Amino acid sequence: MSVSRRALLLGSVASVGLAGCDGIIASGGANNSAQGSAGSLLESKLDLPGRFKVPLPIPPVLSPVRTDGTTDYYEITQKVAQAQILPGVSTTVWGYNGIFPGPTLVSRAGRRTVVTHRNELPVPVSVHLHGGKVAPQHDGYPADLIMGTGPHSGHMGTMTTGPRDYVYDLDQPAATLWYHDHRMDFTGPQVYRGLAGFHLIKDDLEESLRLPSGDRDIPLMIADRAFEADGSFRYPSVDPSLTSTPGVTRDYVSGVLGDCILVNGAPWPVLEVEAARYRFRILNASNARRYSLTLDSGANFVQIGSDLGLLERPISRKKIEIAQAERYDVIVDFSGFRPGQQITMRNGNGRGGTADVMRFVVARTGSDDSRIPDKLAAREQLSPNQAVTSRQIVFARGGAEAHGMTLWTVNGKPFSEDYIVARPKLGTVEKWTIRALNVEHPFHIHLAGFQIMDGAQQGWKDTVNLDNGGSVDLLVKFAGFRGKYVLHCHNLEHEDMMMMANFEVV
Ligand code: C2O
Ligand code: CU
Repeated sequence: MSVSRRALLLGSVASVGLAGCDGIIASGGANNSAQGSAGSLLESKLDLPGRFKVPLPIPPVLSPVRTDGTTDYYEITQKVAQAQILPGVSTTVWGYNGIFPGPTLVSRAGRRTVVTHRNELPVPVSVHLHGGKVAPQHDGYPADLIMGTGPHSGHMGTMTTGPRDYVYDLDQPAATLWYHDHRMDFTGPQVYRGLAGFHLIKDDLEESLRLPSGDRDIPLMIADRAFEADGSFRYPSVDPSLTSTPGVTRDYVSGVLGDCILVNGAPWPVLEVEAARYRFRILNASNARRYSLTLDSGANFVQIGSDLGLLERPISRKKIEIAQAERYDVIVDFSGFRPGQQITMRNGNGRGGTADVMRFVVARTGSDDSRIPDKLAAREQLSPNQAVTSRQIVFARGGAEAHGMTLWTVNGKPFSEDYIVARPKLGTVEKWTIRALNVEHPFHIHLAGFQIMDGAQQGWKDTVNLDNGGSVDLLVKFAGFRGKYVLHCHNLEHEDMMMMANFEVV
């Protein structure tokens, strides 16, 4: 039976007997889409603040604790802390160094980066550098855990108790990467509580282009959240202690959509700009929400980069459709605006509060010697002739059940550490056809970069969005390391509910 046919047979039941998965997914639970995203809206229990009042925070850049001829060494402690996200309200966050977003790491292409993570959270964690070309033992495999301070019931996988080093060779071009939690079964709630930050890679080529830099190169992490009356993050975990039963309550199995839009951890913030060009590295770090971003007042996005670095040429876009985990590196030119003018970034998929994202206010004129060159970077172009194999990957709900629950699956199978969906050869290119059923799904693959066939202008990517019923052909290049990695849906509720599979580069 073909893979796609098997996945289509949603009623077919494979008994998978997943330990610890009782009560995760009730069959017949919501398969709904709201505001252009798979998921259900979770409303805050307190009054949300007015829009465009809070200044945009910029996450601090982390300094290395030491450097030598080849390597920069960093230290991060994951801990519980209080943050003031909503004015006058205190919110408990789980943060890298206690802040949300975490500190920004800035690495130089070709230099090694070592990050020592200490875990003072009550639960296990795993750190993944999303978009990084990283050796398998440093990739943040979901079962490769740093144990927390709390009690734990023996989890499968590897457990480190003390601090642990993640070693990143970063033999890859300048790009906007991000790091986030990847703990088996609990990635959704742990990222939601704050475990996400930027990791930028810079290189000489990018610097020679004279793109906007310094104070005019700003990362924007967009993430939706809901709040409880006491100011804590609201999330429908079956077990809010995140120690035993994974998953969310029945109404949210398609995804958790918050009603408050945060940018860099602030609600609908405002940024004062000079009348000049700015570079914004836009990341959608939401669990389930997709955005259709526009600027009003006649401003445009000029896209210069994608998930894995610079495009060949800049592309002007009125609208940016950004799924979870995707990055759009853009330039916005405010030089045609007068001091006092406002430009608002909106979300065409949202309604009410979620239709607004943030605002720019032109504060003053400013000199500007930046450019947007016609040619950005010469990147390798993959051709279908290079593909040595074709494969199909189907993301769907069903094909497997456990204890009366329907799971989200890859090719009809729920995640298990032993199931390998593909064994590509190191150094080869393959053609992968990805299909999405039941609802929207963003496909993400670790280690390997890909190009979308018939989507040349999108550059090198690691995440691609699929609409419900959609399909996309990718040329995927497996380079860098041999070993076992994961691919998964970046709707984090789907990922936690088994929409993940291993592939092994051989
Ligand atoms: Cu951004 Cu496997 O994740
Ligand atoms: Cu999905």
